[in-house]
Amino acid sequence: MALRIAVLVSGTGSLLQALLDAEADHTLNATVVVVGADNDAAQGLGRAEQAGVPTFVHPFVKGGDRAAWDAEFTRQVAAHDVDLVVLAGFMKLVGPAFLGRFGGRTINTHPALLPSFPGMHGPRDALAHGVKITGTTVFEVDAGVDTGRILAQEAVPVLPDDSVESLHERIKVAERALLVRTVNELAHQGDS
Ligand code: GRF
Repeated sequence: MALRIAVLVSGTGSLLQALLDAEADHTLNATVVVVGADNDAAQGLGRAEQAGVPTFVHPFVKGGDRAAWDAEFTRQVAAHDVDLVVLAGFMKLVGPAFLGRFGGRTINTHPALLPSFPGMHGPRDALAHGVKITGTTVFEVDAGVDTGRILAQEAVPVLPDDSVESLHERIKVAERALLVRTVNELAHQGDS
């Protein structure tokens, strides 16, 4: 079954691009039907537009009403009748309304081997701890920060002269492939 997926982005959108490229190559058993962002500077929006995918932006205003933001974000995604939501570098925590509607079918990626190094700085924290192997994790989103059920992982070596940037970039190469593979596995499970 080809899944209808929503992808949520905040930044560069290279994970989104990996999904769009795989879809264009017919190696993704899914269709990206909408891309949502929490800020209008997210480069992922341009990538979506380039691929002809509808987009929406719903910014969270600092000090604003979190529940209202959550409800409206949920409504915008739900309008597209999606099977799966992929957080692809989405830097906001989704709220209770979102999880009420899409819990169990929302996945995220993290640039470390969870449960090690959760939070905003996975590559930096891995370097600071001097680990020689880190990696990437695809997991099911729950109400915690990077705490959901682990769906897939891939190890990535830390090299002696790595900076945070060089390590994160190496992780992101693995992360893109792992995300495409995981979406395909979920589509396959939907068939059985
Ligand atoms: C990825 O490393 C992801 O795990 C993290 O943010 C990065 C997103 O990259 N949450 P991009 O915006 O898709 O290029």
